[in-house]
Amino acid sequence: MKTLVIGTGGREHALAWALARDPGVSQVHVAPGNPGMSAVATVHPVDPMSGSAVADLAEQLAVDLVVIGPEAPLVAGVADAVAARGIAVFGPSAAAAQLEGSKAFAKDVMGAAGVPTAAARVCLDADQVAAALDEFGAPYVVKDDGLAAGKGVVVTDDRAAALEHAAQCERVVVEEFLDGPEVSLFAITDGRTVYPLQPAQDFKRIFDGDAGPNTGGMGAYTPLPWAPEGLVADVLQQVLQPTVDEMARRGTPFAGLLYAGLALTSRGTRVIEFNARFGDPETQALMTLLDSPLSALLMGAATGTLRDVPPPAWKPGAAVAVVMASKGYPETSSSGDVIVGTETLDVEDDVHVIHAGTAIRDGHLVTAGGRVLAVTAVGIDLADARAKAYEGVATISFPGAQHRTDIALKASKS
Ligand code: AMP
Ligand code: GLY
Repeated sequence: MKTLVIGTGGREHALAWALARDPGVSQVHVAPGNPGMSAVATVHPVDPMSGSAVADLAEQLAVDLVVIGPEAPLVAGVADAVAARGIAVFGPSAAAAQLEGSKAFAKDVMGAAGVPTAAARVCLDADQVAAALDEFGAPYVVKDDGLAAGKGVVVTDDRAAALEHAAQCERVVVEEFLDGPEVSLFAITDGRTVYPLQPAQDFKRIFDGDAGPNTGGMGAYTPLPWAPEGLVADVLQQVLQPTVDEMARRGTPFAGLLYAGLALTSRGTRVIEFNARFGDPETQALMTLLDSPLSALLMGAATGTLRDVPPPAWKPGAAVAVVMASKGYPETSSSGDVIVGTETLDVEDDVHVIHAGTAIRDGHLVTAGGRVLAVTAVGIDLADARAKAYEGVATISFPGAQHRTDIALKASKS
């Protein structure tokens, strides 16, 4: 099978990495890609937001399957444009991607499907925001309704800061605070059959100990040794299948990757948010342990034949991904800082580098974004994978590099 992955980030690099290892895949193309991806795929230029440009490229390359990585092209209808040319595409339609594109829409679907989530108010002006903040009390949770690259959510005890964030958003969702650990549970679905992946955990805050502002994700690991028994089966039954069924009932079936961001609260599991694509950096960790051909799962989801494909199997052991971010992230990011040390790790199996915000300038690998790369390692357990990942991080440097030192630390002791 010939495949084309659309996107530039770590998630797309990890997917291309897994497809390159899949015996069912003869060619992996990526567009627009990043410098790291050239080790596993052929990189092409494209405007990822243009459905016609992506579909043209897929036709030129005569690929069998297009995989759309990021949310923005999905919400913009790029999957629809590719499907309209009769090419199989992994990723939901624009209508179905509203599960991520609008938090208010997602709440409506969850309400209709009986999916447990935080109580929420959709607010259109400052008075409504103030009333909702007082209704739920501190800690305050204020979300921009639209796409915000993981940075549209403010959780704070400071009422003034909550009001200030709301004032910067057009439409705001204020919701009840959910306590308890977070879990990322991804599912591959064709709109009917739902195959959950192994649970993972992401670290959203920039600093150790979950301090500082939210980011796109500073690290991840899988599996979760501390997760309650039956978690995946429960979430499939209470969250994933009802959501997929409700989307089908509305005539906008969701086919692609349904990402449930969950809080395991003292009152039970609640959905924090849905995303309509693989999570980053959880995907970097998950792909290293996937023991099934990725292409068959993605193709099954794209063509409505998932139930004919065996459910995903997982290798034993554990995987840890540690993100290295550029100076100033998440408020700003620094470009053009020369990165050294990645060459020694690129080809290795157990520890490898997944690129995100990198570029080549004057023959040097340089930073080109907030999250620069993720060092991803597999081990016999989390402690082993963690040790290897941090050994890898220690060999890489660039001016102003930031990383968390506590990725998977607590879980490695459980
Ligand atoms: P989201 O973009 O909705 O995933 O939110 C980003 C992060 O904000 C989540 O991963 C949580 O850490 C936090 N968050 C979002 N909603 C809530 C909530 N209702 N209660 C507590 N924390 C939340
Ligand atoms: N891991 C967070 C995200 O992909 O949104």
